[in-house]
Amino acid sequence: MSNRLVTEIAGLKLANPTMLAAGILGMSGSSLKRAAEAGAGAVITKSLGLKPRIGYSNPTLVQVDCGLLNAMGLPNPGVHHFVEEISEAKKGGAPVIISIYGFSSEDFGEAAKVAAEAGADALELNVSCPHVEKTGSEIGQSPQLVAEVVEKVKSIVNKPVFVKLTPNVTDITEIAEAAVKAGADTITAINTVRAMAINVETTRPVLANKVGGLSGPAIKPIAIRCVYEVYRKVNIPVIGCGGVTTWQDAVEFMLAGASAVQIGTAIAFEGLGVFKSIVEGIDSYLENMNFESVKEIVGLSHRY
Ligand code: SIN
Repeated sequence: MSNRLVTEIAGLKLANPTMLAAGILGMSGSSLKRAAEAGAGAVITKSLGLKPRIGYSNPTLVQVDCGLLNAMGLPNPGVHHFVEEISEAKKGGAPVIISIYGFSSEDFGEAAKVAAEAGADALELNVSCPHVEKTGSEIGQSPQLVAEVVEKVKSIVNKPVFVKLTPNVTDITEIAEAAVKAGADTITAINTVRAMAINVETTRPVLANKVGGLSGPAIKPIAIRCVYEVYRKVNIPVIGCGGVTTWQDAVEFMLAGASAVQIGTAIAFEGLGVFKSIVEGIDSYLENMNFESVKEIVGLSHRY
Protein backbone atom coordinates (compact mmCIF):
# COMPACT_ATOMS: atom_id res chain seq x y z
CA MET A 1 0.00 0.00 0.00
CA SER A 2 1.19 3.52 -0.67
CA ASN A 3 2.96 5.94 1.66
CA ARG A 4 0.00 8.31 1.31
CA LEU A 5 -1.81 6.27 3.95
CA VAL A 6 0.90 6.32 6.61
CA THR A 7 -0.04 8.39 9.60
CA GLU A 8 1.00 9.04 13.19
CA ILE A 9 -1.26 9.33 16.20
CA ALA A 10 0.11 10.27 19.61
CA GLY A 11 3.52 8.95 18.57
CA LEU A 12 2.17 5.66 17.18
CA LYS A 13 3.09 5.03 13.57
CA LEU A 14 0.21 3.50 11.59
CA ALA A 15 0.56 2.01 8.09
CA ASN A 16 -2.96 3.28 7.40
CA PRO A 17 -5.66 5.17 9.34
CA THR A 18 -7.87 2.19 10.27
CA MET A 19 -8.08 0.40 13.61
CA LEU A 20 -9.87 -2.67 14.91
CA ALA A 21 -12.40 -1.21 17.40
CA ALA A 22 -12.54 -2.50 20.97
CA GLY A 23 -15.11 -5.24 21.52
CA ILE A 24 -14.81 -7.27 18.35
CA LEU A 25 -12.20 -10.01 17.81
CA GLY A 26 -10.22 -8.48 20.66
CA MET A 27 -10.39 -11.36 23.12
CA SER A 28 -7.23 -13.23 22.08
CA GLY A 29 -3.77 -12.53 20.75
CA SER A 30 -4.42 -14.64 17.67
CA SER A 31 -7.61 -12.82 16.66
CA LEU A 32 -5.91 -9.43 17.15
CA LYS A 33 -3.02 -10.68 15.01
CA ARG A 34 -5.48 -11.78 12.29
CA ALA A 35 -7.03 -8.30 12.22
CA ALA A 36 -3.59 -6.71 11.86
CA GLU A 37 -2.70 -9.13 9.08
CA ALA A 38 -5.99 -8.31 7.34
CA GLY A 39 -4.85 -4.69 7.13
CA ALA A 40 -5.83 -2.87 10.33
CA GLY A 41 -3.39 -0.03 11.03
CA ALA A 42 -3.73 -0.73 14.79
CA VAL A 43 -5.73 -3.18 16.89
CA ILE A 44 -7.60 -2.67 20.16
CA THR A 45 -8.45 -5.38 22.69
CA LYS A 46 -11.83 -6.04 24.25
CA SER A 47 -12.09 -3.91 27.41
CA LEU A 48 -10.19 -5.51 30.29
CA GLY A 49 -10.65 -4.87 34.00
CA LEU A 50 -8.68 -5.78 37.09
CA LYS A 51 -10.76 -8.87 37.85
CA PRO A 52 -12.30 -11.46 35.52
CA ARG A 53 -15.98 -10.79 34.76
CA ILE A 54 -18.54 -13.24 33.40
CA GLY A 55 -20.78 -10.57 31.90
CA TYR A 56 -24.53 -10.81 31.41
CA SER A 57 -26.61 -13.86 30.51
CA ASN A 58 -27.74 -14.36 26.92
CA PRO A 59 -29.18 -12.87 24.80
CA THR A 60 -26.35 -10.34 24.76
CA LEU A 61 -26.37 -9.44 21.06
CA VAL A 62 -29.14 -8.92 18.52
CA GLN A 63 -29.21 -7.64 14.96
CA VAL A 64 -31.56 -4.68 14.45
CA ASP A 65 -32.21 -2.39 11.47
CA CYS A 66 -28.90 -0.83 10.38
CA GLY A 67 -26.81 -2.25 13.17
CA LEU A 68 -26.21 -4.42 16.22
CA LEU A 69 -27.55 -3.99 19.71
CA ASN A 70 -25.36 -5.46 22.45
CA ALA A 71 -25.17 -5.70 26.19
CA MET A 72 -22.39 -8.17 26.93
CA GLY A 73 -21.69 -6.78 30.38
CA LEU A 74 -17.93 -6.35 29.90
CA PRO A 75 -17.05 -10.07 30.00
CA ASN A 76 -13.27 -10.52 30.12
CA PRO A 77 -10.61 -12.70 31.73
CA GLY A 78 -9.06 -9.79 33.64
CA VAL A 79 -6.09 -7.77 32.48
CA HIS A 80 -3.56 -9.98 34.36
CA HIS A 81 -4.72 -13.04 32.44
CA PHE A 82 -4.45 -11.26 29.13
CA VAL A 83 -0.76 -10.42 29.44
CA GLU A 84 0.45 -13.45 27.48
CA GLU A 85 -1.90 -12.64 24.57
CA ILE A 86 -0.13 -9.37 23.87
CA SER A 87 3.07 -10.85 22.46
CA GLU A 88 0.98 -12.96 20.05
CA ALA A 89 -1.07 -9.91 19.03
CA LYS A 90 2.12 -7.97 18.32
CA LYS A 91 3.20 -10.54 15.73
CA GLY A 92 0.57 -8.95 13.45
CA GLY A 93 2.93 -6.01 13.04
CA ALA A 94 0.47 -3.25 14.02
CA PRO A 95 0.41 -1.26 17.28
CA VAL A 96 -1.60 -3.02 19.99
CA ILE A 97 -3.82 -0.84 22.15
CA ILE A 98 -5.28 -2.27 25.34
CA SER A 99 -8.77 -1.08 26.26
CA ILE A 100 -9.29 -0.90 30.02
CA TYR A 101 -12.19 -0.14 32.32
CA GLY A 102 -12.52 0.25 36.07
CA PHE A 103 -14.97 1.14 38.81
CA SER A 104 -12.72 3.90 40.22
CA SER A 105 -9.69 5.91 39.15
CA GLU A 106 -7.57 3.54 41.28
CA ASP A 107 -8.90 0.56 39.29
CA PHE A 108 -8.10 2.32 36.03
CA GLY A 109 -4.61 3.19 37.29
CA GLU A 110 -3.84 -0.39 38.35
CA ALA A 111 -5.22 -1.91 35.14
CA ALA A 112 -3.24 0.63 33.11
CA LYS A 113 -0.04 -0.34 34.91
CA VAL A 114 -0.54 -4.04 34.14
CA ALA A 115 -1.44 -3.29 30.52
CA ALA A 116 1.57 -1.02 30.03
CA GLU A 117 3.93 -3.58 31.57
CA ALA A 118 2.43 -6.24 29.28
CA GLY A 119 3.68 -4.23 26.30
CA ALA A 120 0.64 -2.23 25.20
CA ASP A 121 1.63 0.46 22.71
CA ALA A 122 -1.18 2.65 24.04
CA LEU A 123 -4.21 2.43 26.29
CA GLU A 124 -7.82 3.25 25.52
CA LEU A 125 -9.92 4.16 28.55
CA ASN A 126 -13.48 2.87 28.31
CA VAL A 127 -15.47 5.58 30.07
CA SER A 128 -18.40 5.02 27.78
CA CYS A 129 -19.96 1.54 28.06
CA PRO A 130 -23.65 2.54 28.23
CA HIS A 131 -25.09 -0.15 30.50
CA VAL A 132 -22.78 -1.47 33.24
CA GLU A 133 -23.36 0.11 36.65
CA LYS A 134 -20.68 2.22 38.33
CA THR A 135 -18.34 2.25 35.33
CA GLY A 136 -18.40 3.22 31.65
CA SER A 137 -20.72 6.11 30.92
CA GLU A 138 -21.50 6.56 34.62
CA ILE A 139 -17.94 7.89 34.71
CA GLY A 140 -17.92 9.28 31.18
CA GLN A 141 -20.95 11.52 31.68
CA SER A 142 -19.10 13.56 34.32
CA PRO A 143 -16.24 15.87 33.30
CA GLN A 144 -14.85 15.68 36.87
CA LEU A 145 -14.81 11.87 36.98
CA VAL A 146 -13.28 11.64 33.50
CA ALA A 147 -10.55 14.08 34.50
CA GLU A 148 -9.87 12.09 37.67
CA VAL A 149 -9.48 8.82 35.73
CA VAL A 150 -7.28 10.32 33.02
CA GLU A 151 -5.04 12.10 35.54
CA LYS A 152 -4.62 8.90 37.53
CA VAL A 153 -3.68 6.83 34.49
CA LYS A 154 -1.31 9.49 33.15
CA SER A 155 0.41 9.70 36.54
CA ILE A 156 1.11 5.95 36.44
CA VAL A 157 1.96 5.06 32.84
CA ASN A 158 4.13 6.62 30.22
CA LYS A 159 2.06 5.52 27.20
CA PRO A 160 -0.33 7.37 24.92
CA VAL A 161 -3.80 7.44 26.45
CA PHE A 162 -6.91 7.39 24.26
CA VAL A 163 -10.19 8.29 25.95
CA LYS A 164 -13.29 6.70 24.38
CA LEU A 165 -16.30 8.93 24.89
CA THR A 166 -19.99 8.25 25.11
CA PRO A 167 -22.48 10.04 22.84
CA ASN A 168 -25.05 9.70 25.63
CA VAL A 169 -24.41 13.19 26.99
CA THR A 170 -25.79 16.66 26.39
CA ASP A 171 -22.46 18.14 25.30
CA ILE A 172 -19.67 15.77 24.29
CA THR A 173 -17.19 18.64 23.92
CA GLU A 174 -17.39 19.41 27.64
CA ILE A 175 -16.24 15.85 28.41
CA ALA A 176 -13.57 15.91 25.69
CA GLU A 177 -12.13 19.17 27.02
CA ALA A 178 -11.98 17.76 30.56
CA ALA A 179 -10.10 14.71 29.23
CA VAL A 180 -7.64 16.88 27.31
CA LYS A 181 -7.00 19.13 30.31
CA ALA A 182 -6.27 16.03 32.39
CA GLY A 183 -3.64 14.86 29.88
CA ALA A 184 -5.45 12.67 27.31
CA ASP A 185 -3.42 12.14 24.13
CA THR A 186 -6.31 11.20 21.85
CA ILE A 187 -10.10 11.22 21.94
CA THR A 188 -12.08 8.32 20.47
CA ALA A 189 -15.62 9.30 19.48
CA ILE A 190 -17.92 7.40 19.97
CA ASN A 191 -18.94 4.29 21.89
CA THR A 192 -22.42 2.83 21.31
CA VAL A 193 -25.69 4.70 21.70
CA ARG A 194 -27.90 3.52 24.58
CA ALA A 195 -30.77 1.63 22.98
CA MET A 196 -33.35 -1.13 23.33
CA ALA A 197 -35.42 -3.67 21.34
CA ILE A 198 -38.67 -5.41 22.37
CA ASN A 199 -40.01 -8.63 20.83
CA VAL A 200 -43.64 -8.10 19.83
CA GLU A 201 -44.51 -11.84 20.06
CA THR A 202 -43.15 -12.43 23.54
CA THR A 203 -43.65 -8.78 24.60
CA ARG A 204 -40.27 -8.99 26.37
CA PRO A 205 -37.17 -6.82 25.96
CA VAL A 206 -34.86 -8.82 23.66
CA LEU A 207 -31.60 -8.38 25.57
CA ALA A 208 -31.28 -10.09 28.94
CA ASN A 209 -30.03 -6.76 30.30
CA LYS A 210 -32.99 -5.03 28.59
CA VAL A 211 -30.90 -1.96 27.66
CA GLY A 212 -27.79 -2.14 25.49
CA GLY A 213 -25.65 -0.16 23.08
CA LEU A 214 -26.43 0.35 19.38
CA SER A 215 -23.57 0.22 16.86
CA GLY A 216 -23.30 0.13 13.07
CA PRO A 217 -24.57 2.34 10.21
CA ALA A 218 -27.55 3.59 12.26
CA ILE A 219 -25.23 5.60 14.52
CA LYS A 220 -22.83 6.94 11.90
CA PRO A 221 -24.43 10.40 11.56
CA ILE A 222 -24.36 10.77 15.36
CA ALA A 223 -20.68 9.80 15.41
CA ILE A 224 -19.83 12.17 12.56
CA ARG A 225 -21.48 15.03 14.44
CA CYS A 226 -19.58 14.15 17.63
CA VAL A 227 -16.21 13.99 15.82
CA TYR A 228 -16.99 17.31 14.10
CA GLU A 229 -17.84 19.01 17.39
CA VAL A 230 -14.91 17.55 19.34
CA TYR A 231 -12.40 18.40 16.57
CA ARG A 232 -13.41 22.08 16.81
CA LYS A 233 -12.69 22.19 20.53
CA VAL A 234 -9.56 20.11 21.15
CA ASN A 235 -5.97 20.24 19.95
CA ILE A 236 -5.25 16.50 20.12
CA PRO A 237 -6.12 13.83 17.53
CA VAL A 238 -9.69 12.55 17.35
CA ILE A 239 -10.42 8.99 16.23
CA GLY A 240 -13.79 8.31 14.66
CA CYS A 241 -15.83 5.24 15.56
CA GLY A 242 -19.43 4.35 14.74
CA GLY A 243 -20.78 2.71 11.62
CA VAL A 244 -17.70 2.74 9.40
CA THR A 245 -18.47 0.18 6.68
CA THR A 246 -17.12 1.64 3.42
CA TRP A 247 -14.16 3.79 2.39
CA GLN A 248 -16.61 6.65 1.89
CA ASP A 249 -17.59 6.38 5.57
CA ALA A 250 -13.92 6.49 6.58
CA VAL A 251 -13.26 9.55 4.41
CA GLU A 252 -16.37 11.27 5.79
CA PHE A 253 -15.07 10.77 9.34
CA MET A 254 -11.68 12.20 8.37
CA LEU A 255 -13.26 15.22 6.71
CA ALA A 256 -15.16 15.77 9.98
CA GLY A 257 -11.85 15.77 11.85
CA ALA A 258 -10.87 12.17 12.56
CA SER A 259 -7.19 11.30 12.16
CA ALA A 260 -8.13 7.61 11.95
CA VAL A 261 -11.24 5.44 12.14
CA GLN A 262 -12.12 2.39 14.17
CA ILE A 263 -14.04 -0.47 12.56
CA GLY A 264 -16.18 -2.90 14.55
CA THR A 265 -19.71 -3.86 13.51
CA ALA A 266 -18.80 -3.96 9.80
CA ILE A 267 -16.52 -6.91 10.55
CA ALA A 268 -19.50 -8.89 11.86
CA PHE A 269 -21.32 -8.35 8.55
CA GLU A 270 -18.47 -8.27 6.02
CA GLY A 271 -15.60 -10.15 7.66
CA LEU A 272 -12.02 -8.96 8.05
CA GLY A 273 -11.77 -8.25 4.31
CA VAL A 274 -13.46 -4.94 5.09
CA PHE A 275 -10.06 -3.51 6.14
CA LYS A 276 -8.57 -4.13 2.69
CA SER A 277 -11.54 -2.65 0.83
CA ILE A 278 -11.66 0.46 3.06
CA VAL A 279 -7.90 1.04 2.93
CA GLU A 280 -7.73 0.58 -0.86
CA GLY A 281 -10.74 2.86 -1.29
CA ILE A 282 -9.15 5.65 0.79
CA ASP A 283 -5.94 5.30 -1.20
CA SER A 284 -7.72 5.61 -4.56
CA TYR A 285 -9.68 8.60 -3.27
CA LEU A 286 -6.46 10.36 -2.22
CA GLU A 287 -4.89 9.64 -5.60
CA ASN A 288 -7.93 10.77 -7.58
CA MET A 289 -8.25 13.95 -5.52
CA ASN A 290 -4.50 14.69 -5.76
CA PHE A 291 -3.78 14.51 -2.03
CA GLU A 292 -0.25 13.44 -1.13
CA SER A 293 -1.08 12.30 2.39
CA VAL A 294 -4.15 11.14 4.26
CA LYS A 295 -3.28 13.76 6.88
CA GLU A 296 -4.30 16.48 4.39
CA ILE A 297 -7.99 15.55 4.52
CA VAL A 298 -8.34 15.57 8.32
CA GLY A 299 -10.87 18.26 9.25
CA LEU A 300 -11.25 19.61 5.69
CA SER A 301 -15.01 20.08 6.08
CA HIS A 302 -14.36 22.76 8.70
CA ARG A 303 -13.38 25.22 5.95
CA TYR A 304 -17.08 25.79 5.29
C1 SIN B 1 -20.09 -4.80 26.71
O1 SIN B 1 -19.16 -5.55 27.05
O2 SIN B 1 -21.24 -4.98 27.14
C2 SIN B 1 -19.85 -3.65 25.79
C3 SIN B 1 -18.78 -2.75 26.25
C4 SIN B 1 -18.93 -1.34 25.77
O3 SIN B 1 -19.94 -0.97 25.18
O4 SIN B 1 -18.03 -0.54 26.01
